[in-house]
Amino acid sequence: MLAASAVRTSATDPLSALEVGQRPAPEVPDGWVRVRLEAASLNHHDLWSLRGVGLPDDRLPMVLGCDGAGTDEQGRDVVVHAVVTSPGWTGDDTLDPGRSLLSERYAGTLAEEVVVPARNVVPRPPGLTAAEAACLPTAWLTAYRMLVTQSGAAPGSTVLVQGAGGGVATALVVLGRATGYRVWVTSRSGSKRERAQALGADAAFAPGERLPHKVDAVMETVGEATWAHSLRSLRPGGTVVVAGATSGPAPSAELQRVFFLGLRVVGSTMGTRDELVRLLDLLVTTGARPVIDRELPLDRAAEGFAAMAAGDLFGKVVLRPGG
Ligand SMILES: NC(=O)c1ccc[n+]([C@@H]2O[C@H](COP(=O)([O-])OP(=O)(O)OC[C@H]3O[C@@H](n4cnc5c(N)ncnc54)[C@H](OP(=O)(O)O)[C@@H]3O)[C@@H](O)[C@H]2O)c1
Repeated sequence: MLAASAVRTSATDPLSALEVGQRPAPEVPDGWVRVRLEAASLNHHDLWSLRGVGLPDDRLPMVLGCDGAGTDEQGRDVVVHAVVTSPGWTGDDTLDPGRSLLSERYAGTLAEEVVVPARNVVPRPPGLTAAEAACLPTAWLTAYRMLVTQSGAAPGSTVLVQGAGGGVATALVVLGRATGYRVWVTSRSGSKRERAQALGADAAFAPGERLPHKVDAVMETVGEATWAHSLRSLRPGGTVVVAGATSGPAPSAELQRVFFLGLRVVGSTMGTRDELVRLLDLLVTTGARPVIDRELPLDRAAEGFAAMAAGDLFGKVVLRPGG
């Protein structure tokens, strides 16, 4: 089958580690199912994998990709849940110490087929296209959990989203708008700030800009470049939910600000299968849809990776294994 894989890793030149070519179709273990993929989407996670973050050399070559939608062996339209839990685990998927994301231990979705545990396929509701559904299991699920489950901010609250152009960030803008939050964003790019407002953000600011008032919660995936601004922008008792560190993982913790203002710092990763089902329902009931920057045939995956590495995206890159 055609697949996009990490064949080596490179911290400095991740694109050199990417190969799109033929791989053996995966075997189907007991209790697992095969999904023929119609669409997959890229995440920053795939770039981290090419850099060797979370992907040791002894697992190479590894088919990349966390997100996909297609049909199961009965011909049903399905979405693939990307969090694979340990056998017998019954708690929150994201808190299983043995959990992995597709493409970390098991082959991922940037391929014609993927094999996953039976519980990891979720019906795709009519009304959502395969391309839209393929955007949801990582960036959108992460955004949903950050905002709805972790932020502690009720609808009507003001939420700041750092780095407006990203996959997670555009999801936060759309979901925030659809569920009744006042959404403010920052972005390095003027055109991305404009596009975020067209998408539903109530206001957009340059990185580090002073806000009109303090916010109830901050959605942080940028890391070092925006952390100080995130803490400075919170009202006393406010919450920063952190799910990524694209620009670096080690800003000053600013502990005095955290304890003096009673701030909450909440880490968040992916989401549960139940949250994915609720996210799918939310899109159906609100009409909200993922922002797709571009769709490419799988054999042109490198173009999507290059755009992501350059930060030259607004929303998601969708790849089509069928061309
Ligand atoms: N914990 C989880 O479960 C989880 C799930 C998904 C993603 N993540 C992490 O979250 C991060 C975002 O993922 P993604 O897929 O949304 O990535 P993405 O689509 O590549 O977006 C990254 C965004 O970060 C901003 N950014 C990058 N470098 C920056 C810098 N130096 N200064 C300011 N802003 C910068 C950019 O926003 P502007 O260009 O608009 O400024 C860019 O659009 C990644 O680190 C990823 O690993 C974590």
